[in-house]
Amino acid sequence: MSSSSAYLLHLLLLLLFNVPSTITCCYTSIFSFGDSITDTGNLNFMYLPANPDCLVPPYGETYFQHPNGRCSNGRLVIDFIAEYLGLPYVKPYMGFKNGVVGRENMKHGVNFAVAGATALKSDFFEQKGFDADASSNYSITVQLGWFKDILPSICNSPSTLAGCKEVFQSSFFIVGPIGGNDFGYPLSGKIPLEEFKTYSSLIISTITSVIRDLLDLDAVTVLVPGSFPFGCNPSILTIYETKDEEKYDQGGCLKWINEFFEHFNEMLQTEINRLRELYPHANIIYADYFNSVLQFYRSPQQFGFGENVIKVCCGSGGTYNYNETAMCGSSGVISCDDPSKYVGWDGYHLTEAAYRWIAKGILHGQYTTPKFSASCIKSVTSADFNKNPMK
Ligand SMILES: *[C@@H]1O[C@H](CO)[C@@H](O)[C@H](O)[C@H]1NC(C)=O
Ligand SMILES: *[C@@H]1O[C@H](CO)[C@@H](O)[C@H](O)[C@H]1NC(C)=O
Repeated sequence: MSSSSAYLLHLLLLLLFNVPSTITCCYTSIFSFGDSITDTGNLNFMYLPANPDCLVPPYGETYFQHPNGRCSNGRLVIDFIAEYLGLPYVKPYMGFKNGVVGRENMKHGVNFAVAGATALKSDFFEQKGFDADASSNYSITVQLGWFKDILPSICNSPSTLAGCKEVFQSSFFIVGPIGGNDFGYPLSGKIPLEEFKTYSSLIISTITSVIRDLLDLDAVTVLVPGSFPFGCNPSILTIYETKDEEKYDQGGCLKWINEFFEHFNEMLQTEINRLRELYPHANIIYADYFNSVLQFYRSPQQFGFGENVIKVCCGSGGTYNYNETAMCGSSGVISCDDPSKYVGWDGYHLTEAAYRWIAKGILHGQYTTPKFSASCIKSVTSADFNKNPMK
């Protein structure tokens, strides 16, 4: 049997039986957009002295041993995806821009996500009367602009974008999660739910227009994570804490908040389905972060989390070990002994342990539509096989 037919047989087996495999996957680079859930260091280059969140110990303590711009104790979902694909951690755009990271690294991808980023532009929040901080200046549309600016370098073709098609066929795009910070404004201000229902459709149309722009630039595979169950988020739980037990589900999460974000995710998936019809050759993968994370609170033992799963690891007192005036990173606030027993790291962001489980849910396909492995093969099939099916 020739090596190419052995390869074909291997792919066929994978398709038919979904046999786990060590096959080196087809992606050679990752391009990502989003907020602090995905930022691997852009924040390092653009933080405001008044707002050093995530850039002080104990951030980064578990894996990198020092703060590095990631808003967690260690690796993020995107880091685990990179590891799985055999790629280096995705370098932050601002590192390239500031000349700290060499341009030769661009061939493995670029991360445009910035902690604090919103989906909607800052003027939207200003018009609503919110005190929008500078981070909403790095909205996902601004990030897309950065990506377009450096296309000639990414595609290795100074004058035309001719090289992009080839590069993007083997690229893995991640758009999101995004929107958590948009909702942060009204949620922290305790604005009635009705008033920010209008946000959802605006945020979703912003996300879909970013995806469309990428697909128009010949992107093939785009992972779109949905919203987290913010009703389990300790900062939200603290703001809306109530003695009314009816308001909580069995995992201790606020039902009405989670119902809102479940609906948001349904709307997002409807729009993703529409995009799949418009771009039948694209591979748009929805990642269900909502149900993935909800399970952590419902069956913590199954994931190795401890009994106090609703409390955060790095915080200072209160029902959820979260105190807005003494947050993780403030002096005197210490982290827990074993972060792997916790889902929440600082009240907003999750621990490396939680991000690892979310990544597993994506890569092993339980929480993606369509399944991740199948989608990977699809892009090999269309990119390489149709060109030269039986060499
Ligand atoms: C956002 O950027 C614009 C243009 O660069 C600037 O004028 C504005 O002050 C920035 N907004 C914030 C909140 O920093
Ligand atoms: C939160 O932190 C502030 C400042 O350290 C403190 O005064 C307050 O009592 C704390 N609240 C709780 C619930 O621990």
